[in-house]
Amino acid sequence: MIEIKNLDKYFGNDKVLNNISLKIDKGEIFAMVGHSGAGKSTLLRCINGLESYEIGTLKVFDKEVKNLSTTELKSFRKDVGMIFQHFSLMQRKNVFDNIALPMQVWGFSKDEIKVKVDELLKLIDLSHKSTAYPSELSGGQKQRVAIARALTLDPQILLSDEATSALDPNTTTSILDLLKKINKELGITIIIVTHEMDVVKAVAQKAILLEHGNIIGQGEIEDLFLQPDKKMKKFLGEKEVIPEDGENIKLYFPKEIAQYSIITHMARTLNIDFNIVWGKLEKINNHVIGSLVINITASDKESVTQYLDSKNVTWEIL
Ligand SMILES: Nc1ncnc2c1ncn2[C@@H]1O[C@H](COP(=O)(O)OP(=O)(O)O)[C@@H](O)[C@H]1O
Ligand SMILES: [Mg+2]
Repeated sequence: MIEIKNLDKYFGNDKVLNNISLKIDKGEIFAMVGHSGAGKSTLLRCINGLESYEIGTLKVFDKEVKNLSTTELKSFRKDVGMIFQHFSLMQRKNVFDNIALPMQVWGFSKDEIKVKVDELLKLIDLSHKSTAYPSELSGGQKQRVAIARALTLDPQILLSDEATSALDPNTTTSILDLLKKINKELGITIIIVTHEMDVVKAVAQKAILLEHGNIIGQGEIEDLFLQPDKKMKKFLGEKEVIPEDGENIKLYFPKEIAQYSIITHMARTLNIDFNIVWGKLEKINNHVIGSLVINITASDKESVTQYLDSKNVTWEIL
Protein backbone atom coordinates (compact mmCIF):
# COMPACT_ATOMS: atom_id res chain seq x y z
CA MET A 1 0.00 0.00 0.00
CA ILE A 2 2.92 2.31 0.80
CA GLU A 3 6.40 1.63 -0.48
CA ILE A 4 9.35 3.92 0.06
CA LYS A 5 12.74 3.23 -1.47
CA ASN A 6 15.98 5.08 -0.76
CA LEU A 7 14.28 8.37 -0.09
CA ASP A 8 16.30 11.50 0.71
CA LYS A 9 14.73 14.79 1.73
CA TYR A 10 16.45 18.14 2.13
CA PHE A 11 15.41 21.45 3.65
CA GLY A 12 17.84 23.76 1.87
CA ASN A 13 21.25 22.22 2.45
CA ASP A 14 20.08 20.17 5.43
CA LYS A 15 19.41 16.53 4.73
CA VAL A 16 16.56 15.65 7.09
CA LEU A 17 15.70 12.19 5.75
CA ASN A 18 18.46 9.85 4.65
CA ASN A 19 18.01 6.73 2.58
CA ILE A 20 14.59 5.81 3.93
CA SER A 21 13.16 2.49 2.74
CA LEU A 22 10.06 0.85 4.15
CA LYS A 23 6.90 -0.97 3.22
CA ILE A 24 3.52 -0.68 4.84
CA ASP A 25 0.85 -3.21 3.99
CA LYS A 26 -2.87 -2.66 3.85
CA GLY A 27 -4.56 -3.05 7.23
CA GLU A 28 -1.43 -2.54 9.31
CA ILE A 29 -0.90 -0.23 12.24
CA PHE A 30 2.61 1.03 11.61
CA ALA A 31 4.56 3.26 13.99
CA MET A 32 7.28 5.78 13.25
CA VAL A 33 9.06 6.52 16.46
CA GLY A 34 11.92 8.80 17.36
CA HIS A 35 12.96 11.79 19.39
CA SER A 36 11.92 15.30 18.51
CA GLY A 37 13.56 16.51 15.31
CA ALA A 38 14.22 13.00 13.99
CA GLY A 39 12.20 13.64 10.84
CA LYS A 40 8.97 11.80 11.66
CA SER A 41 6.55 14.55 10.73
CA THR A 42 8.49 15.31 7.58
CA LEU A 43 8.27 11.67 6.50
CA LEU A 44 4.55 11.66 7.21
CA ARG A 45 4.12 14.82 5.17
CA CYS A 46 6.01 13.25 2.29
CA ILE A 47 3.56 10.35 2.38
CA ASN A 48 0.53 12.57 1.96
CA GLY A 49 2.16 14.86 -0.57
CA LEU A 50 2.52 17.92 1.65
CA GLU A 51 6.29 17.78 1.22
CA SER A 52 8.32 16.73 -1.75
CA TYR A 53 11.54 14.70 -1.70
CA GLU A 54 14.68 14.94 -3.77
CA ILE A 55 15.88 11.38 -4.20
CA GLY A 56 14.22 7.97 -4.18
CA THR A 57 10.67 6.81 -4.69
CA LEU A 58 7.59 6.98 -2.51
CA LYS A 59 4.59 5.12 -3.79
CA VAL A 60 1.15 5.13 -2.25
CA PHE A 61 -1.51 3.01 -3.97
CA ASP A 62 1.22 2.24 -6.52
CA LYS A 63 1.55 5.90 -7.52
CA GLU A 64 4.62 8.09 -7.11
CA VAL A 65 3.34 10.82 -4.78
CA LYS A 66 5.58 13.63 -5.98
CA ASN A 67 4.41 13.13 -9.55
CA LEU A 68 0.71 13.54 -8.78
CA SER A 69 -0.96 16.44 -10.57
CA THR A 70 -2.94 18.99 -8.57
CA THR A 71 -6.21 17.24 -9.46
CA GLU A 72 -4.81 13.82 -8.61
CA LEU A 73 -3.46 15.17 -5.35
CA LYS A 74 -6.88 16.44 -4.38
CA SER A 75 -8.51 13.04 -4.72
CA PHE A 76 -5.43 11.35 -3.26
CA ARG A 77 -5.82 13.38 -0.06
CA LYS A 78 -9.40 12.16 0.19
CA ASP A 79 -7.95 8.69 0.65
CA VAL A 80 -5.47 9.80 3.30
CA GLY A 81 -6.90 11.28 6.51
CA MET A 82 -4.74 12.97 9.11
CA ILE A 83 -4.91 13.86 12.79
CA PHE A 84 -2.56 16.03 14.86
CA GLN A 85 -1.40 16.72 18.39
CA HIS A 86 -3.41 19.91 18.72
CA PHE A 87 -6.60 18.65 17.07
CA SER A 88 -7.00 21.74 14.84
CA LEU A 89 -10.76 22.04 15.23
CA MET A 90 -12.70 25.13 14.20
CA GLN A 91 -13.56 26.91 17.45
CA ARG A 92 -16.62 28.62 16.01
CA LYS A 93 -18.20 25.47 14.69
CA ASN A 94 -19.91 22.86 16.80
CA VAL A 95 -18.95 19.19 16.84
CA PHE A 96 -21.35 18.21 14.07
CA ASP A 97 -20.16 20.97 11.75
CA ASN A 98 -16.50 20.30 12.48
CA ILE A 99 -16.94 16.69 11.43
CA ALA A 100 -19.07 17.69 8.44
CA LEU A 101 -16.53 20.17 7.10
CA PRO A 102 -14.63 17.95 4.63
CA MET A 103 -17.90 16.67 3.16
CA GLN A 104 -19.18 20.23 2.76
CA VAL A 105 -15.99 21.16 0.93
CA TRP A 106 -16.50 18.21 -1.41
CA GLY A 107 -20.14 19.25 -2.01
CA PHE A 108 -21.97 16.30 -0.49
CA SER A 109 -25.71 16.80 0.06
CA LYS A 110 -27.10 17.70 3.48
CA ASP A 111 -28.74 14.29 3.80
CA GLU A 112 -25.55 12.41 2.96
CA ILE A 113 -23.65 14.53 5.45
CA LYS A 114 -26.20 13.93 8.20
CA VAL A 115 -26.09 10.14 7.74
CA LYS A 116 -22.31 10.02 7.75
CA VAL A 117 -21.74 12.41 10.63
CA ASP A 118 -24.32 10.64 12.82
CA GLU A 119 -22.64 7.34 12.07
CA LEU A 120 -19.22 8.74 12.98
CA LEU A 121 -20.55 10.39 16.15
CA LYS A 122 -21.68 6.95 17.21
CA LEU A 123 -18.29 5.45 16.37
CA ILE A 124 -16.48 8.01 18.54
CA ASP A 125 -19.11 7.77 21.27
CA LEU A 126 -20.00 11.46 21.19
CA SER A 127 -23.52 11.54 19.77
CA HIS A 128 -24.61 13.47 22.88
CA LYS A 129 -22.07 16.24 22.15
CA SER A 130 -23.16 16.90 18.60
CA THR A 131 -24.07 20.56 19.27
CA ALA A 132 -21.26 21.29 21.73
CA TYR A 133 -18.39 23.61 20.80
CA PRO A 134 -14.72 22.60 21.01
CA SER A 135 -14.19 24.85 24.05
CA GLU A 136 -16.73 22.70 25.90
CA LEU A 137 -14.84 19.46 25.25
CA SER A 138 -11.98 17.70 27.02
CA GLY A 139 -8.74 17.02 25.15
CA GLY A 140 -9.71 13.42 24.52
CA GLN A 141 -13.13 14.43 23.20
CA LYS A 142 -11.53 17.00 20.88
CA GLN A 143 -9.23 14.34 19.49
CA ARG A 144 -12.23 12.05 18.95
CA VAL A 145 -13.92 14.77 16.94
CA ALA A 146 -10.74 15.28 14.91
CA ILE A 147 -10.61 11.54 14.26
CA ALA A 148 -14.23 11.53 13.06
CA ARG A 149 -13.50 14.48 10.80
CA ALA A 150 -10.54 12.62 9.32
CA LEU A 151 -12.83 9.69 8.51
CA THR A 152 -15.69 11.50 6.76
CA LEU A 153 -14.35 10.92 3.27
CA ASP A 154 -13.75 7.19 3.90
CA PRO A 155 -9.96 7.28 3.70
CA GLN A 156 -7.96 4.10 3.22
CA ILE A 157 -5.09 5.44 5.27
CA LEU A 158 -5.10 7.45 8.50
CA LEU A 159 -1.97 9.37 9.47
CA SER A 160 -1.59 10.29 13.11
CA ASP A 161 1.06 12.84 14.06
CA GLU A 162 1.59 12.75 17.85
CA ALA A 163 -2.18 12.53 18.30
CA THR A 164 -1.91 11.48 21.92
CA SER A 165 1.06 13.61 22.95
CA ALA A 166 -1.07 16.31 24.56
CA LEU A 167 -3.23 13.82 26.45
CA ASP A 168 -2.96 12.21 29.88
CA PRO A 169 -2.23 8.45 30.07
CA ASN A 170 -5.83 7.29 30.51
CA THR A 171 -7.13 9.45 27.70
CA THR A 172 -4.23 8.26 25.55
CA THR A 173 -5.32 4.68 26.13
CA SER A 174 -8.89 5.44 25.12
CA ILE A 175 -7.77 7.21 21.94
CA LEU A 176 -5.45 4.33 21.07
CA ASP A 177 -8.33 1.92 21.64
CA LEU A 178 -10.43 3.97 19.25
CA LEU A 179 -7.67 3.85 16.63
CA LYS A 180 -7.44 0.07 17.02
CA LYS A 181 -11.19 -0.19 16.58
CA ILE A 182 -11.04 1.94 13.43
CA ASN A 183 -8.25 -0.23 12.08
CA LYS A 184 -10.10 -3.44 12.83
CA GLU A 185 -13.67 -2.54 11.99
CA LEU A 186 -13.10 -0.20 9.06
CA GLY A 187 -9.94 -1.87 7.77
CA ILE A 188 -8.11 1.45 7.63
CA THR A 189 -4.31 1.34 7.51
CA ILE A 190 -2.93 3.55 10.27
CA ILE A 191 0.47 5.20 10.54
CA ILE A 192 1.28 6.51 13.96
CA VAL A 193 4.05 9.02 14.52
CA THR A 194 5.08 9.30 18.13
CA HIS A 195 8.00 9.88 20.47
CA GLU A 196 6.36 7.66 23.11
CA MET A 197 7.40 4.02 23.21
CA ASP A 198 4.33 3.10 25.24
CA VAL A 199 2.13 4.21 22.39
CA VAL A 200 4.06 2.01 20.00
CA LYS A 201 3.81 -0.97 22.30
CA ALA A 202 0.10 -0.51 22.82
CA VAL A 203 -1.03 -0.39 19.20
CA ALA A 204 1.53 -0.99 16.50
CA GLN A 205 2.35 -4.20 14.71
CA LYS A 206 5.46 -2.88 13.01
CA ALA A 207 7.67 0.12 13.58
CA ILE A 208 10.66 2.04 12.39
CA LEU A 209 12.96 3.85 14.74
CA LEU A 210 14.15 7.18 13.32
CA GLU A 211 17.21 9.08 14.49
CA HIS A 212 18.55 12.18 12.74
CA GLY A 213 16.72 11.20 9.57
CA ASN A 214 18.03 7.64 9.52
CA ILE A 215 16.16 4.43 10.16
CA ILE A 216 18.14 2.80 12.96
CA GLY A 217 15.72 -0.02 13.70
CA GLN A 218 12.87 -1.64 11.87
CA GLY A 219 10.65 -4.65 12.30
CA GLU A 220 7.83 -6.37 14.10
CA ILE A 221 7.10 -4.78 17.46
CA GLU A 222 7.59 -7.95 19.43
CA ASP A 223 11.03 -8.53 17.95
CA LEU A 224 12.06 -4.92 18.52
CA PHE A 225 11.16 -5.04 22.20
CA LEU A 226 11.90 -8.66 22.92
CA GLN A 227 15.48 -8.52 21.81
CA PRO A 228 16.42 -4.90 21.49
CA ASP A 229 19.76 -4.33 19.82
CA LYS A 230 22.27 -1.75 21.07
CA LYS A 231 20.64 1.19 19.31
CA MET A 232 17.20 0.26 20.54
CA LYS A 233 18.48 -0.15 24.09
CA LYS A 234 20.06 3.25 23.92
CA PHE A 235 16.81 4.69 22.65
CA LEU A 236 14.87 3.01 25.43
CA GLY A 237 17.42 4.30 27.91
CA GLU A 238 17.95 0.85 29.39
CA LYS A 239 20.94 0.46 31.59
CA GLU A 240 21.79 -3.00 32.69
CA VAL A 241 23.42 -3.15 36.08
CA ILE A 242 24.63 -6.68 36.68
CA PRO A 243 26.72 -8.54 39.25
CA GLU A 244 30.38 -9.02 38.50
CA ASP A 245 30.61 -12.56 39.84
CA GLY A 246 29.38 -15.66 38.02
CA GLU A 247 27.49 -15.61 34.74
CA ASN A 248 24.60 -13.31 33.96
CA ILE A 249 22.12 -14.71 31.51
CA LYS A 250 19.29 -12.73 30.06
CA LEU A 251 16.22 -14.76 29.12
CA TYR A 252 13.49 -13.66 26.81
CA PHE A 253 10.03 -15.09 27.18
CA PRO A 254 8.00 -14.70 24.05
CA LYS A 255 4.22 -14.64 24.15
CA GLU A 256 3.89 -18.43 24.26
CA ILE A 257 5.94 -18.83 27.42
CA ALA A 258 5.52 -15.67 29.41
CA GLN A 259 5.74 -17.37 32.79
CA TYR A 260 8.64 -17.47 35.11
CA SER A 261 7.65 -20.97 36.21
CA ILE A 262 10.10 -22.28 33.65
CA ILE A 263 13.07 -21.10 35.70
CA THR A 264 11.86 -22.54 38.98
CA HIS A 265 11.37 -25.79 37.09
CA MET A 266 14.89 -25.42 35.76
CA ALA A 267 16.28 -24.95 39.28
CA ARG A 268 14.53 -28.10 40.45
CA THR A 269 15.45 -30.20 37.43
CA LEU A 270 19.11 -29.17 37.39
CA ASN A 271 19.31 -28.87 41.16
CA ILE A 272 21.04 -25.50 41.00
CA ASP A 273 20.73 -22.16 42.73
CA PHE A 274 20.47 -18.86 40.95
CA ASN A 275 19.78 -15.24 41.75
CA ILE A 276 17.29 -13.09 39.95
CA VAL A 277 19.07 -9.87 38.97
CA TRP A 278 16.11 -8.14 37.43
CA GLY A 279 13.07 -8.92 35.38
CA LYS A 280 10.19 -7.22 33.75
CA LEU A 281 6.93 -8.03 32.10
CA GLU A 282 5.53 -5.90 29.35
CA LYS A 283 2.32 -5.86 27.45
CA ILE A 284 2.98 -5.54 23.77
CA ASN A 285 0.14 -5.70 21.33
CA ASN A 286 -2.07 -7.45 23.87
CA HIS A 287 0.60 -10.10 24.44
CA VAL A 288 2.62 -10.26 27.58
CA ILE A 289 6.33 -10.72 27.05
CA GLY A 290 9.05 -10.66 29.57
CA SER A 291 12.75 -10.61 30.06
CA LEU A 292 14.66 -11.81 33.06
CA VAL A 293 18.31 -11.68 34.04
CA ILE A 294 19.57 -14.46 36.26
CA ASN A 295 22.97 -14.88 37.84
CA ILE A 296 24.42 -18.37 38.12
CA THR A 297 27.78 -19.83 39.08
CA ALA A 298 30.06 -20.24 36.09
CA SER A 299 30.15 -24.04 36.43
CA ASP A 300 26.36 -24.24 35.85
CA LYS A 301 26.52 -22.31 32.60
CA GLU A 302 26.54 -25.27 30.26
CA SER A 303 23.69 -27.20 31.87
CA VAL A 304 21.58 -24.04 32.16
CA THR A 305 22.03 -22.99 28.56
CA GLN A 306 21.32 -26.53 27.40
CA TYR A 307 18.15 -26.58 29.47
CA LEU A 308 17.05 -23.21 28.06
CA ASP A 309 17.69 -24.39 24.52
CA SER A 310 15.63 -27.51 25.16
CA LYS A 311 12.72 -25.28 26.25
CA ASN A 312 13.13 -22.94 23.28
CA VAL A 313 13.86 -19.99 25.52
CA THR A 314 15.98 -17.31 23.87
CA TRP A 315 18.95 -16.24 25.99
CA GLU A 316 22.10 -14.23 25.88
CA ILE A 317 25.11 -14.02 28.14
CA LEU A 318 25.57 -10.49 29.39
N1 LIG B 1 9.69 23.48 6.92
C1 LIG B 1 10.92 23.24 7.39
N2 LIG B 1 11.98 23.98 6.97
C2 LIG B 1 13.21 23.73 7.40
N3 LIG B 1 13.52 22.75 8.25
C3 LIG B 1 12.52 21.99 8.72
C4 LIG B 1 11.16 22.19 8.31
N4 LIG B 1 10.39 21.26 8.93
C5 LIG B 1 11.21 20.55 9.69
N5 LIG B 1 12.49 20.95 9.57
C6 LIG B 1 13.67 20.35 10.21
O1 LIG B 1 13.70 18.97 9.82
C7 LIG B 1 14.07 18.15 10.89
C8 LIG B 1 12.99 17.11 11.14
O2 LIG B 1 11.83 17.74 11.62
P1 LIG B 1 10.47 16.98 11.91
O3 LIG B 1 10.13 16.14 10.75
O4 LIG B 1 9.47 17.99 12.33
O5 LIG B 1 10.88 16.04 13.14
P2 LIG B 1 9.96 15.26 14.18
O6 LIG B 1 8.57 15.25 13.68
O7 LIG B 1 10.57 13.91 14.27
O8 LIG B 1 10.10 16.00 15.48
C9 LIG B 1 14.34 19.06 12.06
O9 LIG B 1 15.71 19.32 12.11
C10 LIG B 1 13.56 20.31 11.71
O10 LIG B 1 14.15 21.42 12.29
MG1 LIG C 1 6.85 16.03 14.57
